[in-house]
Amino acid sequence: MMPYPDGFSFPCICVEETDSTSLYLARLCTEQEVKEMTVVTAAHQTAGRGQRGTSWESEKGENLLFSTVLYPTFLSAKEQFRLSQVISLAVKETLDVYAEDFSVKWPNDIFWKEKKICGMLLENDLTGTQISRCIAGIGININQEEFHSPAPNPVSLRQITGKEENLSEVLKQVMERIGVYYELLKSGKRDWIASRYQRSLFRNTGFHDFQDQQGIFTAMITGIEPEGRLILTDDTGRERRYAFKEVSYLY
Ligand code: BTN
Repeated sequence: MMPYPDGFSFPCICVEETDSTSLYLARLCTEQEVKEMTVVTAAHQTAGRGQRGTSWESEKGENLLFSTVLYPTFLSAKEQFRLSQVISLAVKETLDVYAEDFSVKWPNDIFWKEKKICGMLLENDLTGTQISRCIAGIGININQEEFHSPAPNPVSLRQITGKEENLSEVLKQVMERIGVYYELLKSGKRDWIASRYQRSLFRNTGFHDFQDQQGIFTAMITGIEPEGRLILTDDTGRERRYAFKEVSYLY
């Protein structure tokens, strides 16, 4: 089991195995009051969940698999994307300490060069028009040396730095940064966070190939709407706006 991180200032439950750290945390929240930013980590998940109903594969004990809970009642349902920005930036900027060339692939994958090192799944509960709870599940490939799953282009921190990295230390740094960005969000620094997010984006300069339902096209990223839609301007000058899943990058 992963040791409890030294000097960790968030409640943390480290389990050897569970179905999914996000499901574990959601169950806990139905059973008892759970303090904001409580963390659940697991060395192994038997039913790790990814985006779009996919599964999340990870070699036992090699990677960071964790979930944390936020109660962002100050955010309306329309502002869910702000949480993706905060958590993506926290992970990306933690990894920046270890190596260069990390970016955020819209909306919330973390890439190193053209490869994916981290995925996250944010599951929000709404009460009326506000977000009452967010369970953020985060998987960061840390020490795995070989990948066998069909996930496209995985990479681990160890493959990048060439050395074994300390899971607890990375977790601590990510959570501290989530805390800092979350406080900034609470204090109204939405635009500052949004521009930092945009500057951190994968392929945020120049023209690249994308694909939507109509086919392949060449475009550049020209913005992100506050609600998270990606704004592309294609090589004919036409502006196109996409919600998550409506467009994919080609690489
Ligand atoms: C993706 O498909 O990119 C998102 C992957 C999210 C995986 C993490 S691992 C910890 C947490 N528990 C889960 O079951 N999923 C998330």
